[in-house]
Amino acid sequence: MAFSGSVFSFCYLFFLGIFSISLLNVSAKRTFQIDYENNCFKKDGEPFRYISGSIHYSRVPRYYWKDRLLKMYMAGLNAVQMYVPWNFHEVMPKKFVFDGDKDLEHFLKLANDTGLLVILRPGPYICAEWDMGSLPAWILKKDTVILRSSDPDYLAAVDQWMNVLLPKIKPLLYNNGGPIISVQVENEYGSYFACDYDYLRHLVKLFRYHLGDEVILFSTDGSGIGYVKCGTVEGLYATVDFGPTENITGCFEVQRHFEPKGPLVNSEMYTGWLDHWGEKHQVVATSVITRALDTVLGLGANVNMYMFIGGTNFGYWNGANTPYAAQPTSYDYDAPLSEAGDLTDKYFALREVIRKYKKLPDGPIPPSVPKFAYGPVPLKKLHILSEMLDVLCPSGPVKSVYPLNFVQLNQYFGFVLYRTLLPKDCSSPTSLSSPLNGVHDRAYITVDGVPQGVLERDKVLSINITGKTGATLDILVENQGRINFGRYINDFKGLVTNLTLGKDFLTGWTMYPLRIDDAVGQGLKEKSHKSFLSSTSSTFSAPAFYIGSFDIPSGIPDLPQDTFINFPGWTKGQIWINGFNLGRYWPARGPQITLYVPRHILSTSAPNNITVLELEKSPCDVKPCVVEFVDTPVLNATVSNIFPGRKLFAGGH
Ligand SMILES: *[C@@H]1O[C@H](CO)[C@@H](O)[C@H](O)[C@H]1NC(C)=O
Ligand SMILES: *[C@@H]1O[C@H](CO)[C@@H](O)[C@H](O)[C@H]1NC(C)=O
Ligand SMILES: *[C@@H]1O[C@H](CO)[C@@H](O)[C@H](O)[C@H]1NC(C)=O
Ligand SMILES: *[C@@H]1O[C@H](CO)[C@@H](O)[C@H](O)[C@H]1NC(C)=O
Ligand SMILES: *[C@@H]1O[C@H](CO)[C@@H](O)[C@H](O)[C@H]1NC(C)=O
Ligand SMILES: *[C@@H]1O[C@H](CO)[C@@H](O)[C@H](O)[C@H]1NC(C)=O
Ligand SMILES: *[C@@H]1O[C@H](CO)[C@@H](O)[C@H](O)[C@H]1NC(C)=O
Repeated sequence: MAFSGSVFSFCYLFFLGIFSISLLNVSAKRTFQIDYENNCFKKDGEPFRYISGSIHYSRVPRYYWKDRLLKMYMAGLNAVQMYVPWNFHEVMPKKFVFDGDKDLEHFLKLANDTGLLVILRPGPYICAEWDMGSLPAWILKKDTVILRSSDPDYLAAVDQWMNVLLPKIKPLLYNNGGPIISVQVENEYGSYFACDYDYLRHLVKLFRYHLGDEVILFSTDGSGIGYVKCGTVEGLYATVDFGPTENITGCFEVQRHFEPKGPLVNSEMYTGWLDHWGEKHQVVATSVITRALDTVLGLGANVNMYMFIGGTNFGYWNGANTPYAAQPTSYDYDAPLSEAGDLTDKYFALREVIRKYKKLPDGPIPPSVPKFAYGPVPLKKLHILSEMLDVLCPSGPVKSVYPLNFVQLNQYFGFVLYRTLLPKDCSSPTSLSSPLNGVHDRAYITVDGVPQGVLERDKVLSINITGKTGATLDILVENQGRINFGRYINDFKGLVTNLTLGKDFLTGWTMYPLRIDDAVGQGLKEKSHKSFLSSTSSTFSAPAFYIGSFDIPSGIPDLPQDTFINFPGWTKGQIWINGFNLGRYWPARGPQITLYVPRHILSTSAPNNITVLELEKSPCDVKPCVVEFVDTPVLNATVSNIFPGRKLFAGGH
């Protein structure tokens, strides 16, 4: 359809007219609607435009929710946009968790108390650089399930989840006295291959059933006709998303193709961009995003800045893209508030743009919180992982002729140890291969405890090993995060195909699903005897645990403070402090070097316990080794780009 410039200006005039005038209509009931005639939203009967920013409560500790929300409010935002990650809450089928850092309702009430409206995106699929786009891995129990479609098994799981989630949401809708002004259904569904309208219609019906007829339901898709076409159905208000360097009027023209009238909405305007291990750190210049925001607001459009604060992929929550490339622990995103919640130049520059269109709130902006460099902490080797299987796998191993994947082993995150015996003599180097690329995602290999090397999905499909007939072959497989975007989100983990030794399939597996987080939480203890086997080579050490502890210094006011942990000489692994899983470190690949450590996990009354699982090569083999607490993050160490050709603003949310 022909594009008409006049659709922009009408609503804009309204905003100029009401700028700084108080409009309390006390007699009115709380309403939030679409005004098709005037091309805007209508809140309590008055024209309304939102200037929103994304925050993911699952990436910010509850301890800091209020601080981050207040900083967003003080930037001049009148709304926040947020996803609800399904797998964060329904950890096993019908086992729902909504407390502590997962207390969604508390977060929504804090937003409301801060004076922020909420644009809620409950999925079920969210993309978001989050493990499997937040679909729980247990859905893959039926291994042929077609995700994000009207496959009855998929829909049954979705219904089960939404029947719990949406009733919690209903009282927090704007018209019911809460902050939620609109609810997104699915996410960029038009970018998915299925284009299953029955699925979208099912979701619309389900959402309406639980949330009622008043709330605005909407869709978000890439700003191309082809995307929106498969991403929206009747009953959803179609919105688009696009980056700051796109042709803004051209992108809104795509929205107008589907919504000839109503408010213009960019549901994701990218303030920065995501990283992958092994790629250069992504940044977006402040001038690029301020110019785009100014243009969008000048058109009278509604906008959500994705992200306003990115936060952290604690534990195992990061996702991945294809060809397989996992996102790192930091989700800093080069956003206006840093991963640690610090105010940046970008924050103040965006605030100045907002000031042109809206009165900024009075009062001080909460300052960036101080960081403290606690310094180096010596670590010592506790045990190699394979010596601790009684503690790490209390339920005992599972045996099978052919390998089973994580889902078949009821293990969804972390690590599984696959063990078999060498069926033949491999005194001369013999190839251990995954001809069908079935190591998902990275395998650390030892023979009788002697490290042999690493197999890596999409990269290293074969290594040579040596060992005698009957020697123990241990393959520790790491799930590095499930693919969150595109066709291949049904991302099975573990050994998902057979491995070969020379020309023959390996068989007779003993598999140990590892409950490492439970074991670390209970405190790993030193055992009386250690293996006499050599556990290092020049390039690898067998996967092993290292421990150490540090005290918060006394006599310095306001400790503990936030800090960042650096890994001098370490290669790749996982780290816990006081049992809290801070995430993955991989300075050998970058670009992220340090990990964010929020203060609330630190203790002043007892030594703080550090547990490191180093998977590849530890510095402790040759000299005393440390991890080091520093006061400045490093997220941008130069790495040789191992994914040539991947483009900025490709790969989706
Ligand atoms: C106030 O609310 C009432 C009831 O919804 C509505 O009829 C009226 O138009 C509103 N007044 C203004 C000034 O918007
Ligand atoms: C949200 O805040 C408003 C005041 O802005 C208050 O009237 C309402 O009760 C709050 N709702 C909830 C659910 O806390
Ligand atoms: C942006 O898109 C509009 C509408 O399609 C078009 O008229 C204009 O030429 C484009 N601008 C640029 C710089 O490509
Ligand atoms: C494995 O060893 C064989 C024979 O020694 C050699 O030809 C081959 O290049 C080696 N492969 C790898 C991946 O190192
Ligand atoms: C391994 O090979 C066997 C025999 O061909 C086959 O039945 C089995 O499904 C394969 N397992 C995997 C995980 O590919
Ligand atoms: C660290 O471990 C020690 C020994 O198990 C324990 O006494 C202490 O409470 C732990 N520290 C914290 C902060 O939990
Ligand atoms: C990394 O970021 C820091 C701080 O923003 C900056 O000073 C430094 O130049 C950057 N390094 C690289 C290699 O981009």
